[in-house]
Amino acid sequence: MSTDVPQNRPKRLLVTGAAGFIGSNLVHWLLDRWPGASIISLDALTYAGNLANLEDVRDDPRHRFVRGDICDRELVAKLCDEGIDAIVNVAAHTHVDRSLLGGDDFVGTNVGGVQAICEVIKERKSIRLLHVSTDEVYGSQAPDEVATETTALDPRNPYSAAKAGGDLVALAYMHSFGLDVVITRCCNNYGPYQYPEKMIPLFLTNLFEDKQVPLYGDGLHARQWIHVEDHCAAIARVLEGGRRGEIYNISTGVGLTNLELTERLIEIVGKDKSLIKYVQDRPGHDRRYALDDGKLRGELGWEPIFDFGTGIEQTVQWFVDHEDWWRSIKSGAYRKYYDEQYGERIKH
Ligand code: NAD
Ligand code: TYD
Repeated sequence: MSTDVPQNRPKRLLVTGAAGFIGSNLVHWLLDRWPGASIISLDALTYAGNLANLEDVRDDPRHRFVRGDICDRELVAKLCDEGIDAIVNVAAHTHVDRSLLGGDDFVGTNVGGVQAICEVIKERKSIRLLHVSTDEVYGSQAPDEVATETTALDPRNPYSAAKAGGDLVALAYMHSFGLDVVITRCCNNYGPYQYPEKMIPLFLTNLFEDKQVPLYGDGLHARQWIHVEDHCAAIARVLEGGRRGEIYNISTGVGLTNLELTERLIEIVGKDKSLIKYVQDRPGHDRRYALDDGKLRGELGWEPIFDFGTGIEQTVQWFVDHEDWWRSIKSGAYRKYYDEQYGERIKH
C-alpha cells in the first residue's frame, strides 16, 4: 500500500445503500485501504439491505450505520453537516425483473433520491458527489460495438431508465448550480454479499441444492463481468482523481453469454448441465452490454486486479462458506434480524 495519500482523498464519507451488495463491499474496501477515512453508512434497509453485510464493522470506531432514506433531505442534510466531504451514492432499486412488475420505487429512489441529495449539497458545495450508475443506461450494444461515455443513452427497462434519469439529474445540478459531481457506469458485478435474486448468486445457491437454474430465452444474452472489489477500487480512484462533471465507464472487457457463464458455474460447483432450465425470456431483455473504459484507465491509471477465473472461483467459495448468510435471505429470516433492531421496514 502506498504511503502517499492523494491530496484530494476525502476524509469523511457518506456511503448510501451501504447495506446492499456493492455498498457493503465499498465500506469494507474503504475502511481497509483508506486508514485516514471515516464513514457514515446510510441505508433504508429495503428487502435488499442486510445489516449482516456490515456486521464485522459494527464496532469499528471509524464507521457508523444510520437507517434512513436518501429521499429524506432533512436527514441527509443533518448527516452532511457532520463534516462530510464526499457522498458516494450507491443506494438504488436495482433488480430489472422487479422493475418490470412496477417502477414506482425505482423512479422514487433512482431519480428522486438523486435529486434530494443534489438539493442538499446545493447548499454545501464543498461536498463531492460520486453517483454510482450502470452500463445499462446505454441500452443494448450491437455485436461489434462498445459504449463510450458519449454514447447516447438508450435505457430499455424501468430500472435502467430510472438510473439514466438519476444520472441526468445529477449532471443538470452540476451544470446549473456548480456542484462537484462525478458519475461512474460499471458493468455487471459479482462477489460476496450479492443478493440471491441476481443471476450468479441465484444460480449458485440453486445449484448447491440440486435445483434447476432458470436461464432466460436462448441464454445468449451477453454481459461483461467485474469483481466487486475491482469496482470499489475504481470508485475510490474516481473519488480522489476524477474530474468534476465527468463520467467514467468501468469494465474488465470480460464478456460472456449467460449460457457460457452458467456452464462455468455448473463446472465449478461440480453439477450437471441438465440442471439448466430454459424459461420464458425477460420482457425487453437487452441482448448485450459492452463498455469501453479506456478513459478511466488512461486518465486515472485504474486496472482490474481479478482475472475472471480466480474471481469467480473465490466467489463460489464465499457462497459455500457463507451458507447461513444466503439461507437466511432465501428463508426471509434476515428480515426479522433487523426489524427487531430498527422497527418496521419502510416500503421502498
Ligand atoms: P443492492 O440492491 O444490493 O443494494 C442497494 C441498497 O440500496 C440496498 O441496501 C437498499 O436497502 C438501499 N436502498 C434502496 N433504496 C434506498 C433509499 N431510498 N434510501 C437509502 N437506501 C436505499 O444493489 P447493488 O447491486 O449493490 O447496486 C448498487 C448500485 O450499483 C446501484 O446504484 C446500481 O445501479 C449500481 N450498479 C450495480 C451493478 C451490479 O451488477 N450489481 C452494476 C453496475 C452498477
Ligand atoms: P441480473 O443478474 O438480473 O443482472 P442485469 O439484468 O442487471 O444484467 O441478470 C444478468 C443476466 O442473467 C441477464 O441477462 C438476465 C439473466 N438472468 C437469467 O437468465 N435468469 C435469471 O433468473 C436471472 C435473475 C437473470
